Amino acid sequence: MTTEPIGLAQDLAPKGVMRAQIGHADMAIWRSTSGVISAWENRCPHRGMRLSHGFVRGESLACAYHGWHYDCDAKCHYIPAHPELEPPSTIRPAIYSVVEKAGIIWVNTAGTATPAELPDRLLGLRTITMQCDLSTAAHAIASAAQTNAALFNGSVNDINSDQTILSLANPNGTDGICILFQQPLAQSTVIHVLAHDSYSQNELIAISRWCESVRREAERIMQSSNKVEPAK
Ligand code: FES
Repeated sequence: MTTEPIGLAQDLAPKGVMRAQIGHADMAIWRSTSGVISAWENRCPHRGMRLSHGFVRGESLACAYHGWHYDCDAKCHYIPAHPELEPPSTIRPAIYSVVEKAGIIWVNTAGTATPAELPDRLLGLRTITMQCDLSTAAHAIASAAQTNAALFNGSVNDINSDQTILSLANPNGTDGICILFQQPLAQSTVIHVLAHDSYSQNELIAISRWCESVRREAERIMQSSNKVEPAK
């Protein structure tokens, strides 16, 4: 299992909890009050409640159902119904390796998280979900980049071997934006968009709108090829 990008670091503030998926792995990603980030199986060891519904209490995540508290090492250390009890150390959700790099949260569910190498000076811009498969998303983005000369110089710098990273050049020829693909479900693709820090605010807004137009085009392609049912 490779290391996957699951979201922008800026979208998970201290005390925040988010849900993410890699393949069939359902995860709760949370950040403690001091900023420690954790990625766990999204299932409370007590009765199976999704931990992504939980609440951050200082350096602990509290399950939303019966309030069991888990520390940053995933160890249960407090059970509200039995406050005197020292919980067994075996009560803990499965943990995944997680790191932050280039403004992205990276998770590996089967080994140590090792982020991909990315160009310098990129900032996280946005995450967007497309109801299409990965190849359609990559194709729509690459072709759309060639028709927006104001933001991109019409060239795709690179699509790596497994088509999970696509880099577009800016008008100066250097890396302009970088798009990381993640396909969590059979017919949806999540893309995480990073933009070079030399873009102006207005250009970043234009790139964000461009992403929306690409999403609409990718979903239109899926519908016209009968890969998915049109929305009712
Ligand atoms: S299900 Fe989580 S504390 Fe009971």
